[in-house]
Amino acid sequence: MEPVPEGTFILSKDITKEKELDEELKRHREHLEDLVVERTAQLEAVNKELEAFSYSVSHDLRAPLRHINGFIDLLNKGVSHTLDEKNRRYLTVVSQAASHMGSLIDDLLAFSRMSRAELMKTRVNLRRLVTEVITELKTAEEGRKVVWDVGTLPVVEVDPAMMRLAVLNLLANALKYTRTREEARIEVGSTRNDHETIFFVRDNGVGFDMKYVDKLFGVFQRLHRAEEFEGTGIGLANVRRIIQRHGGRTWAEGKTGEGAAFFCSLPDTTRKG
Ligand SMILES: Nc1ncnc2c1ncn2[C@@H]1O[C@H](COP(=O)(O)OP(=O)(O)O)[C@@H](O)[C@H]1O
Ligand SMILES: [Mg+2]
Repeated sequence: MEPVPEGTFILSKDITKEKELDEELKRHREHLEDLVVERTAQLEAVNKELEAFSYSVSHDLRAPLRHINGFIDLLNKGVSHTLDEKNRRYLTVVSQAASHMGSLIDDLLAFSRMSRAELMKTRVNLRRLVTEVITELKTAEEGRKVVWDVGTLPVVEVDPAMMRLAVLNLLANALKYTRTREEARIEVGSTRNDHETIFFVRDNGVGFDMKYVDKLFGVFQRLHRAEEFEGTGIGLANVRRIIQRHGGRTWAEGKTGEGAAFFCSLPDTTRKG
């Protein structure tokens, strides 16, 4: 046998090793991809189950609540004039609590309906959508001084009804949590990074403590008391779910007493023009 020149021999050995490594990497990658697919399927199944659960719970809670409300009405008509002030107040508190529970149930039902509804994507001019929602909200301004500053916003391919709900929730919050300001300033705008558009709403309102930022987007999670600012705490949960369903992310920044900013990213697959 001809002796193999040393250099060639080393080279061929290296290539074999590289090939083996490549194959191994490929196997690992494929295994990882399988795992991700499997995990995603599992998560989707759990999500579906949770959505079905909250749908049926909120649906089923309505019947007993109707009963409670019916009997509160009967008590109000039948005996409230015979009660002293303290007991009348008890009846009022029960009635208010039942009505608040009704709002919570309705909101939860709407939330799970929205989570289950099919996405119907079309081209939506975000700037026009924002302008329409602001016009709608003007009636809620009640003589307040509110400066709306709307920047450039893109045309996107999204579900128009869902996107409107997300925008409405963010703008209504900005309007609500600036209520104590002499002049409210609400900025709506967008920026871009290399693969997504980021839509944001910033206000100079009461703000919030960043310590609790993770809670804001949860169902029924509120950082402000109902006596101060009314609400059920479902708005931002809706926003998060809607944006997630479009493949985007949501986050917030705030400082107590100094305002807040809410961000939604929309992946480039939703960008149109
Ligand atoms: N613009 C904002 N400024 C300060 N805090 C906010 C703002 N928007 C939302 N939050 C906080 O996040 C919580 C959850 O918001 P949301 O889900 O819309 O519920 P709600 O408006 O019914 O309170 C609010 O209770 C409030 O504490
Ligand atoms: Mg809200």
